Amino acid sequence: MEIKKITCIGAGYVGGPTMSVIAQKNPDIQVTVVDLNAQRIADWNQDDLSQLPVYEPGLDAVVAEARGRNLFFSTEVEKAIQEADMIFISVNTPTKTYGKGKGQAADLKFIELCARQIADVSTSSKIIVEKSTIPVRTAATIKNILDHTGKGVQFQVLSNPEFLAEGTAIRDLHHPDRILIGGENPEAIQALKKIYEAWVPSERIITTNLWSSELSKLVANAFLAQRVSSINSISELCEATGANVDEVANAIGQDSRIGSKFLKASVGFGGSCFQKDLLNLVYIARSYNLHAVADYWDQVIKINDHQKTRFAEKIIQTMYNTVNGKKIAFLGWAFKKDTNDTRESAAIYVADHLLEEQAEISVYDPKVLDVQIYKDLDYLATRTLEENKSLLQVETNPYDAAAGAHGLAILTEWDEFKDLDWAKIKTQMKKPAFIFDGRKLLDGKKLTEMGFVYYAIGE
Ligand code: UDX
Ligand code: ADP
Repeated sequence: MEIKKITCIGAGYVGGPTMSVIAQKNPDIQVTVVDLNAQRIADWNQDDLSQLPVYEPGLDAVVAEARGRNLFFSTEVEKAIQEADMIFISVNTPTKTYGKGKGQAADLKFIELCARQIADVSTSSKIIVEKSTIPVRTAATIKNILDHTGKGVQFQVLSNPEFLAEGTAIRDLHHPDRILIGGENPEAIQALKKIYEAWVPSERIITTNLWSSELSKLVANAFLAQRVSSINSISELCEATGANVDEVANAIGQDSRIGSKFLKASVGFGGSCFQKDLLNLVYIARSYNLHAVADYWDQVIKINDHQKTRFAEKIIQTMYNTVNGKKIAFLGWAFKKDTNDTRESAAIYVADHLLEEQAEISVYDPKVLDVQIYKDLDYLATRTLEENKSLLQVETNPYDAAAGAHGLAILTEWDEFKDLDWAKIKTQMKKPAFIFDGRKLLDGKKLTEMGFVYYAIGE
């Protein structure tokens, strides 16, 4: 099976960067990324590489190298499907917002639509690769739809979950810890393996059966999320006992069995994957009547929700039990640094909580646009858009956000916040000038000496 043309359905945070790197490293393969969203495709095609729809350090250089050579972004979905030897499905799989499994199960309607479209328009045999995170046994659904076209076209379905983290996507794609390929057909597996072998050492490419591959993706994210919830649960204990969570994390992280990564206490994990995949895992476990297993993983989400609420409550309590009419500056809105993605960001929930207490909020984030911030709040449907707009202002620099504020909260660990002119910020803020560091980003000792009242998670 020689692959000359690849199509990827879905030009989002996963499809866009992943296909850019595959094209960069395989100049002889034509890679076309398609999306129903015409604006998104136009954004991928624009000349100004600083305005690509996904912000990732290093992505602009990869796109500059491959776009127009063997990397194309298009809205012609059917044509791209027809021409492809291999099709990656990289569409969104949000948590269901209706019907059975509402709030827990993954909504597979976009995946199914893709499968049906592939079945409808394909006239030649193809390898279908699931890239999107999906529940175990989704490949069986895809295969079932594809096998009933009655056209005699052969499809092989592979699972190839993506482990890149946002903000470090290009580095993760260039130097992956491992590539996972699940499937049944050795030739199809080999064809996909060959694409990765263009830059990934073959011993880093793991092959498994389909179901192990699908489940491994959910389990990897569940374990990572569990580590964050574990250290976050300890952060509360640290605050109560006088221990320091960073010191505890460092002490336990030196144990090579535990390891030092992913032990940074925070205002809570966000992102498109952790909560969704945990919910999914819980849902799957319940559907097999494994309630003890489901409860165990559900607790990881509960601790995360608790951490966000706890942070908002700490702000209110510290500011004399009321934030009514007080201005609170938010530095950061993205779910982590170096991305413009806000999905499930802790900032959204902390803001919602404070707005319920009638606080006024001013937000500065280096990469997130005001429309996105209002969209995020609107999605919660706690207030009308007009109410949100009257209570929350979005600023284009941190000093304007802090001017006249009673308190300032760090929600995202953007590096630039460390180097702000904190003396200037202090003169602009109301006194006492409170700082609530939800990322343990700033030098608390220095800020305290400067006269701020400084609180950080886990201290
Ligand atoms: C995650 C997985 O890391 C990645 O392998 C998978 O493909 C997709 O999901 P991502 O959501 O992009 O990636 O970011 P990640 O770096 O994992 O961070 C997730 C959240 O956890 C962020 O909100 C981050 O701030 C938080 N986090 C992470 C912590 O609070 N503390 C930590 O120590 C690590
Ligand atoms: P992810 O983080 O998984 O990449 P995104 O939401 O960023 O998720 O991207 C998924 C993309 O898939 C969106 O741009 C959406 O428009 C696109 N998409 C969803 N369904 C289809 C479809 N049937 N055909 C083409 N594109 C689709």
